[in-house]
Amino acid sequence: MTDPLRILVTRRWPEAVERQLVETYGATLNVEDRPLDRAAFVAAMRDYDVICPTVSDRLPAEVIETPDRRVRLIANYGVGVDHIDLEACRRAGVAVSNTPGVLTDATADIALTLMLMATRRAGEGEREVRAGQWTGWRPTHLLGASLKGRLLGLIGFGRIAQATAERARAFGMEIAYYSRSRAAPEIEARIGARHFATLDALLAEADVLSLHVPGGAETRHLIDAAAIARMKPGAYLINTARGDVVDSEALAAALAERRIAGAGLDVYTGEPNVPAALTALENVVLLPHLGSATVETRTAMGMRALANVEAWAKGEALPDRVA
Ligand code: DGY
Repeated sequence: MTDPLRILVTRRWPEAVERQLVETYGATLNVEDRPLDRAAFVAAMRDYDVICPTVSDRLPAEVIETPDRRVRLIANYGVGVDHIDLEACRRAGVAVSNTPGVLTDATADIALTLMLMATRRAGEGEREVRAGQWTGWRPTHLLGASLKGRLLGLIGFGRIAQATAERARAFGMEIAYYSRSRAAPEIEARIGARHFATLDALLAEADVLSLHVPGGAETRHLIDAAAIARMKPGAYLINTARGDVVDSEALAAALAERRIAGAGLDVYTGEPNVPAALTALENVVLLPHLGSATVETRTAMGMRALANVEAWAKGEALPDRVA
């Protein structure tokens, strides 16, 4: 008789998905929802066949290469996999899957939320009301910027960028993008997006820049001090991608000097820590990585991870294999 599959889920998942994982596989849940440390991951690599981690976990090569490991599948809960050393997984023969597609709309909604909050100074206004400092309506109170007629510059042009563009068009924005590979003409035509051949050209023209590239070594500090200096004065920066795409010190300096008008951030390097240089500023909206945070989306992410576990358990190809 073969051993039953041993599956570890590293954080709480929506109840409907956890129930299925427990009923079908007797999966181990993290009922206290505390992040696992490196020692716990090393032990898990030896004790389980499948680990289901998420963006708050770190799986570097030293963990993946644990001697006497049992793990053969990492079914990530989330689309971004920059917290997992994929090269180490390939070397070690550990398959990795993610959950693409199901969080597109929720994340695009948050990109628009940040755009509207930053340009309309919603965070400042809310803080003022809660602090009892609102002195009443006046023609010059908390004036923001309108999105209509402004150029939205998307860096990266995958599913989430395109869904963001579709929403932004409903607000009357013009759309442009820069990405390593140009989209098909029918996609550009459907979205009404202009392609820019260089990042610098987009930085110089966009009124609102929105980041949609994967995290990791290739995009680390893509938006550094030099890139921020090339942005249009008075522009806004929106980041729903990964924190390390932006040099947060350089961003805080530009915001403090009002070289750019504002920013809206959902992601940070070293989450959940947010630099004091940012929290001290009024002209930046700071959300706690809420991009995919709807019941529908988080449930769909779990079901998608489960579909990969099921395929793997049956010896079938993974629907969302990334390594
Ligand atoms: C992901 O799936 O990578 C997101 O960042 C989680 O919201």
